[in-house]
Amino acid sequence: MGQRVRLGGWVHRRRDLGGIVFIDLRDRAGVVQVAAGPTAPAEVRRVAGELTSETVVEVEGQVTARPANMKNPELATGDVEVQATKLAVLGPAVTPAIPVARGKGEELPAEELRLRHRHLDLRRPEMQGNLMLRHRLLQRARRTLSDLEFLEIETPVLTKPTPEGARDYLVPARVHPGEFYALPQSPQIYKQLLMVSGFDRYFQLARCFRDEDLRNDRQPEFTQIDLEASFVGMEDVLGYVEAVLVALWDEAGHKIARPFPRITWREAMERYGTDKPDLRYELSIADWTAQVKPLAVPFVESTLKDGARVRGLAVKGGGGLSRKDVDQLAEAAKQLGGSGLAWVKRQGEHISGSVGKHFTAETLGQLGVGDGDAALMAVGPDRVTSPVLDRVRQEVIRRLEFQPKAAHAFCWVVDFPLFEPEPETGKPVFAHHPFTSPHPDDLARLDTDPFSCRALHYDAVYNGNELGSGSIRITDPAVQRRVFGHLGMSREDAEARFGFLLSGLQAGAPPHGGFAIGFDRVVMLLAGAGSLRDVIAFPKTTTARALFEGAPAPAAPGDLAALHIEVKP
Ligand code: AMO
Repeated sequence: MGQRVRLGGWVHRRRDLGGIVFIDLRDRAGVVQVAAGPTAPAEVRRVAGELTSETVVEVEGQVTARPANMKNPELATGDVEVQATKLAVLGPAVTPAIPVARGKGEELPAEELRLRHRHLDLRRPEMQGNLMLRHRLLQRARRTLSDLEFLEIETPVLTKPTPEGARDYLVPARVHPGEFYALPQSPQIYKQLLMVSGFDRYFQLARCFRDEDLRNDRQPEFTQIDLEASFVGMEDVLGYVEAVLVALWDEAGHKIARPFPRITWREAMERYGTDKPDLRYELSIADWTAQVKPLAVPFVESTLKDGARVRGLAVKGGGGLSRKDVDQLAEAAKQLGGSGLAWVKRQGEHISGSVGKHFTAETLGQLGVGDGDAALMAVGPDRVTSPVLDRVRQEVIRRLEFQPKAAHAFCWVVDFPLFEPEPETGKPVFAHHPFTSPHPDDLARLDTDPFSCRALHYDAVYNGNELGSGSIRITDPAVQRRVFGHLGMSREDAEARFGFLLSGLQAGAPPHGGFAIGFDRVVMLLAGAGSLRDVIAFPKTTTARALFEGAPAPAAPGDLAALHIEVKP
């Protein structure tokens, strides 16, 4: 109190009460009230009287206590104000295209508008808070890994394609007509080569680029906390990643217990229908084929063939789902390719629902469906019923407002399959990436029954979100060639694309494995933001456009000619 201060910032709000002007002055630390009252110099009162929102000013003055009835408990600086003795405009501002200061309950402008005027949107205290949290998390990750003796090493951005399941962004090489660099989908191959070169613990806060369908949790350009270590097995890698995640959650004020629970991929698919189960809630899927098959339900009988099963959710309190809820769930199930959703509700003696007449209280009891509950079931092959029941489970949790048993549910999903069938052709495609080691117990079946092979691949899952992925890598060049072969690559093709990795593996490769944490997702979840766009300073839209700077944009004809590129209309 009484301190003389010099402050710079933006005019957040201005209130002119006739004899006195109040300015809410804002910078990244927050807002402080500046007063230009009757005792202030005339020039200060004149300038204060003309200030418009978002003007940059410099203020000198004295910190004083606010009168008791003027204190603002919602503001960290709400007990004080600065009595201005000098006031200068440093950066006049035109009327802002979107407001930075918002009244209580006032909605945000449409996101498109916010992205077009990102410089203003980023001034909002929420966005400033998100990016400051991002900074702290990034420093904490770096410190944690450095303390674990990981070396931060940068890998190239102009590179050769690294397959991670998306399309590459290509960059034409002007001095090599017709040739292209690819932007890395991840530093995967480089980090493996660093292991071959003896840097036995590497990390990087790596920028990755993927041309893929975008959603709220995907951006074409994003950041990974990428790590790799040599002479390690899965347990070591999981330990390192847990250390980083626990540190990041701690930075945001949450204490997380280690080790995280583990679930196999098969069990996750069986009980939750997804490889990223939200374990905050008990509700899980059960196989009801044995109980439901004998009931002669026509729609079940016609669908139950070729390995199809009846799988369902016994929803506690599911009697509270309205007819509209159930119809919407059934519609969502159909959109996912299922034959729909059969349902039964039990209220005392009364049993209703789309297949209710085939069920008795006794059968429902066997399925764990009690009074006031509902049974929701899907019939078909697992590849159809799993996504349907995953979706239905999430919707039921949301609609019935289930209480989570914990706020933070981490888990490891392990024992993923090495290959997945491509939906259209049934051909094997890699489930993670082609450098993931087959499970040693399954290696003998690699050629005879590739789909039954498990991989040394693990994912970190948090509250139903995939935070990251990793694996123990193939170090035997012969095994690496066999895996390329299964993916339909000829020997020559594999050599042309991945010869540099194969030569590395031939040169004395230590056993190694690693992981990549999707850093933007971590920040989004810890900031409580609804989209990655709220934790990235200059993000892209879901159509991969940068609205603020206007990218992508057509190139000048001269530039295209220099790159030997012709654009067809
Ligand atoms: P993966 O492809 O699973 O593994 O990526 C790891 C994590 O990165 C995040 N992520 C994304 N975040 C935002 N936008 C995207 N488009 C996007 N794509 C992925 C996710 C994901 O879990 N090289 C391997 C890792 C390894 O094996 O070490 C890799 O990149 O959170």
